Amino acid sequence: MKIAIGSDHAGFELKEHVKNYLELKGFEVIDEGTNSVDSVDYPIFAKKVAEDVASKKTEYGILMCGTGIGMSIAANKIKGAYAALCLYPTMAKYARLHNNANILVMAGRLMGLTLAEETVDIFLSTDFNGGRHERRTNEIKEFEN
Ligand code: RB5
Repeated sequence: MKIAIGSDHAGFELKEHVKNYLELKGFEVIDEGTNSVDSVDYPIFAKKVAEDVASKKTEYGILMCGTGIGMSIAANKIKGAYAALCLYPTMAKYARLHNNANILVMAGRLMGLTLAEETVDIFLSTDFNGGRHERRTNEIKEFEN
């Protein structure tokens, strides 16, 4: 499975950790930057990862900034990107089960590494429930037209 990953400076250390974690597990990770802790603007990286996912270049995306809020707002402006800010594994579980989110957003300044690993694991291993939830996600898709 291919996964696009990106962060700003505030999410950089968590991005590097998650990238290594996923590569050790055998995932193919496309790193869209940033590449250091030098200050950068998060929308640039949100757009790159969201476009990778929306164009089906990758199945999922993972984004990180300080709080996860800016990355979420920015990524959700790209048609076909459904980004969910998840601070706990349970949020990631329902982001997939109920919302069919295709981008996981995490908070580099608020989450520990083990919590982030568990959140990533659940997000990538949980399937969409469909049914009444698909009716609702289709209602959201209509907003895009
Ligand atoms: C950067 O200081 C910070 O604003 C950014 O990482 C993010 O938290 C924005 O939502």
